[in-house]
Amino acid sequence: MGEIRIGVITSSDSCHSGSREDVSGKVIAELCEARGWVVVAYHVCPDDQECLSVSLQEMADSDRADVVLTTGGTGLGPRDVTPEATAAVCDRLAPGIAEHLRAESAKVTPRAMLSRGVAGIRGTTLIINFPGSEKAVRESFAFVADQLEHAVEMIAGGGH
Ligand code: MTE
Repeated sequence: MGEIRIGVITSSDSCHSGSREDVSGKVIAELCEARGWVVVAYHVCPDDQECLSVSLQEMADSDRADVVLTTGGTGLGPRDVTPEATAAVCDRLAPGIAEHLRAESAKVTPRAMLSRGVAGIRGTTLIINFPGSEKAVRESFAFVADQLEHAVEMIAGGGH
């Protein structure tokens, strides 16, 4: 397997309104394409749980993304709702991925503990929450990327 189908969702009021460019979402897409994966869907949502859940459902059910990577909305602010939107649409959680992200991120910044990001599976789609900054996205991607192809194979029923 080499070619993974990727969905990218950015949670950001300012990127959605157009007052700020969505650098982090585009960086995720670039990092995936550099590995030969195909970005099949990309969406910028406001920090709104309903919009995020609908986007996640569409990418999993209609676009048939193997992996959806989200950025933003994982912190402690009142409008940070990406983990809730993700958990609401997942059939099963994959806590080890989020644990690994936080553990590795804590070696880079003590603020890693402030991310509430989760990971889980909807149907045959793996969803992973990254924090919002470009720096956090680059670091988080590096922490999980090598395992994604194997994860997708496992979700599809392949061996371990
Ligand atoms: N994880 C990594 N690897 N690198 C980072 O720079 N930033 C932290 C944390 N996780 C960070 C990180 C910070 S400052 C916050 S507030 C939380 O992620 C939540 O970020 P979010 O609200 O943009 O999702």
